[in-house]
Amino acid sequence: MFTRARLIVFQSKDLMKKITLGIVIFITLCYSLHPGRFASSYYTYIKHNEIADELEPSPNALSCVKESDKSLCSIIPTDLENTLQHPNISVTDFDMKDLANKFNVGVGGAWKPPDCISQHEVAIVIPFRNRTLQLQIFLSYMHPFLQRQLLNYRIFVIEQGTKGAFNRAKLLNIGYVEALKTYAYHCFIFHDVDLIPQKLNNMYACTHQPRHMSSSLDTFRYNLPYQELFGGAVAILKKQFELVNGFSNIFFGWGGEDDDFQNRIINRGMSLCRFPPDVARYTMLTHAKELPSENRFLNLESGRERYETDGVNTLKYSILKIVNYPLYTWILVDI
Ligand code: BGC
Repeated sequence: MFTRARLIVFQSKDLMKKITLGIVIFITLCYSLHPGRFASSYYTYIKHNEIADELEPSPNALSCVKESDKSLCSIIPTDLENTLQHPNISVTDFDMKDLANKFNVGVGGAWKPPDCISQHEVAIVIPFRNRTLQLQIFLSYMHPFLQRQLLNYRIFVIEQGTKGAFNRAKLLNIGYVEALKTYAYHCFIFHDVDLIPQKLNNMYACTHQPRHMSSSLDTFRYNLPYQELFGGAVAILKKQFELVNGFSNIFFGWGGEDDDFQNRIINRGMSLCRFPPDVARYTMLTHAKELPSENRFLNLESGRERYETDGVNTLKYSILKIVNYPLYTWILVDI
């Protein structure tokens, strides 16, 4: 009897060991298969009372104000505590002209505060293909949102006109180049069309260090899937984007390009930041999950070798069409 009991204890201990080993192997495997492992974490979290000091005003705005009879808008408007009404997911009566009139948006989706000079001159760049309903929701919600923040902004939608795998990063590089042809923006926000910010005090402006904006996302239960994540929506100064040679152009298909971009930033000695999680809250509009690209691991692993030779300095594309729509600048490209 005694021996049998010892045998059961022994067997269950052995089973426990096997289960633990299995779990350890599983976790190691998951981690090693995650592209984020090639990225390193250099994040600081900005506290609520530090946000204003961390925002970097546009030098151009600061010099313009000297020759103007208007004064500077405050770096963060004081009335941003509330949330905006959540976008209507079934925008059935989307009428661009009506909305542009309602929100006083200038052609091409540009706006600036009428009564003061904004300290933030921001190009918002959206990579796009086949997501019309999401774009409508995004535009209907974002114009009033951005205006409440008193930004001088314009929305650029860069659409991949060619079939084949989507190249998010290359579209963002194109957006950067094309936006600068319209105005000397000092700050760039690279933004997925399916992300809707929930907090008005999540300033769509640049901080001294590149910022991961969408760090608190409902589909991730407001947690980060991994610490280094730099995807979704990010804000970066023009001079910083130039320094890192923009994004890599070779990431076709889903995944990895944002991890590579983060590595480029760290490689140039910059650090990264985030706003507090209760500010950086986002809702993701639902869509079918993209198929991850198989090359993303290899591209990411060898990324460092290409920072100087693959980026904005080697960007090649042709413009198929540019239309200044009432709510956005649409740039259709062949990549
Ligand atoms: C991909 C990133 C993506 C992240 C979150 C990672 O595995 O490499 O591109 O942004 O997952 O979905």
